[in-house]
Amino acid sequence: MALLIVFEGVEGSGKTTQTQILRDKLESVNQHAITTREPGGTASGELIRNIILDQEDLTPMSELYLFNAARSLLIEQLVIPQLRKEVHVIMDRFIYSTMAYQSYGREIPLQTVKTINEIASHQVVPDVIVLLDIPPQKALSRRPDPRDRFEREALDFHTKIRDGYLAMAQENPRDWIVIDADLKPDQIAEIVWGKIQPLLNI
Ligand code: TYD
Repeated sequence: MALLIVFEGVEGSGKTTQTQILRDKLESVNQHAITTREPGGTASGELIRNIILDQEDLTPMSELYLFNAARSLLIEQLVIPQLRKEVHVIMDRFIYSTMAYQSYGREIPLQTVKTINEIASHQVVPDVIVLLDIPPQKALSRRPDPRDRFEREALDFHTKIRDGYLAMAQENPRDWIVIDADLKPDQIAEIVWGKIQPLLNI
């Protein structure tokens, strides 16, 4: 069975690097794997991404719908078909980002976010969620020039996001692995591989 592996964390936590390392590692043991990202990953999803990251007039609810519009498309067009073809799918962000940012961060009630996330994710549930945990001060200092309106948010916003992630991971410790994102990338990759390898039929 192909795996769905999700990486979560605040900006600058190193998710993108880890998704690529894991894909290469899976390929090196002859397992097919792809990486994708949210928001984005499809042609229209990338256009929706540009709106989300750049437009200053969005409200929290309109953000919630836009993230989920892109998500619904990604799940239908890419994630489900790839998993059916026995290709492992590694996602840079998924529904937990929406819970962290739009609920813990933007303060939309958690149940509202969960309901809309659930519809958009078409019953797809990850096998493993990796949280790359780091104090936001440290993560943001890795990116001195904010690239979008989320990175321009105050530290307090990012702290709420981190706390939200930690609360979710604590609630479901069987599904989440929490890794100190201040470790070296190869150390992080080794911890991730230690979790993924036993799940493979090799
Ligand atoms: P991105 O450049 O992908 O961030 P990073 O490289 O740090 O992961 O930008 C995506 C931004 O959108 C990021 O700030 C988190 C935010 N986001 C939400 O607020 N809700 C969501 O559901 C998702 C998927 C992302």
